[in-house]
Amino acid sequence: MAALRARAMSFKLEELQKAHKAYRQFAEKNPPVHHARYIFPFFTGSYFAYRKVDVLRVVAIAKAVNEKPSYLDVGCGYGDFLKKVIEYLPGASGVEKEGGIFYALGMEKPAYIEIAPVESLLSKPVDVAFVGWMEPGADFRRQVAKIAKCVITTFDAGGQCGVNGGCEYDEFGFEQIAWWRTPSWIDVNAELMNRYYTPSLSEEKKRHLATLRSAHNFWYVYARPELADKIREALASHIAREDAKERYDFEGVLDECGFGYKEELATVTTAKRLWEVILD
Ligand SMILES: C[S@@+](CC[C@H](N)C(=O)[O-])C[C@H]1O[C@@H](n2cnc3c(N)ncnc32)[C@H](O)[C@@H]1O
Repeated sequence: MAALRARAMSFKLEELQKAHKAYRQFAEKNPPVHHARYIFPFFTGSYFAYRKVDVLRVVAIAKAVNEKPSYLDVGCGYGDFLKKVIEYLPGASGVEKEGGIFYALGMEKPAYIEIAPVESLLSKPVDVAFVGWMEPGADFRRQVAKIAKCVITTFDAGGQCGVNGGCEYDEFGFEQIAWWRTPSWIDVNAELMNRYYTPSLSEEKKRHLATLRSAHNFWYVYARPELADKIREALASHIAREDAKERYDFEGVLDECGFGYKEELATVTTAKRLWEVILD
């Protein structure tokens, strides 16, 4: 059994090394700055497209739970989003079950990332668990719900956790506080591919393809009921003061691809604007 597991693991790592080679070859061609983030999100970005406003919302929520919150990024990969959060919450940490992702690429694992399956952390409660995009079928909500007071999760409209495809925490006794919509990295990726890497596409075809964006990413905030009002109020007051001029350089790619902050979408009926927060 252990040998089987090791073989499966080394196969995955081989795939990872191959993908990393493709990433290096892409980078050697000096592509426009920040494109790699949306083309190789695992190596140099994240599977959800975010702006600085998202980081600051997450930090504001965490501080509403506790002035000095314990914060755990579950399945953090190389920790791209976590690194941003740590600038504001220095005690934040991550847990990643595949230690091989660091060793396969000869990368040093940061001390703030623990190599373990989240299922093994049941005796380590945290104020906030952040669950970034998970592979469809990976569903550890029950474990996360046992250790966290507040859960912030992102997932694609395409469907992930569980049989119904959502990543909701209501069934684990949590209350939904708020949600917002951001573009899926898949849409950003497709837009970049159409604009820069498919020269044969006509302008008309590119415009048509841009209207087909549908793989939105959702951010949901959940909390234990006794904390719900406090977090809701803190988030509402944070949003009232939100300043989208605070931004990361890579956000220019989102703007250019038509995924502006508060950009209105024609194809949806609720939360019509990207990054618009809906308080429940
Ligand atoms: C699709 S990647 C997402 C990485 C990062 N959160 C992001 O959004 O870019 C999912 C990561 O979760 C890790 N993972 C899956 N199941 C896990 C578990 N039970 N405990 C900890 N990490 C897990 C995987 O190894 C993988 O690195």
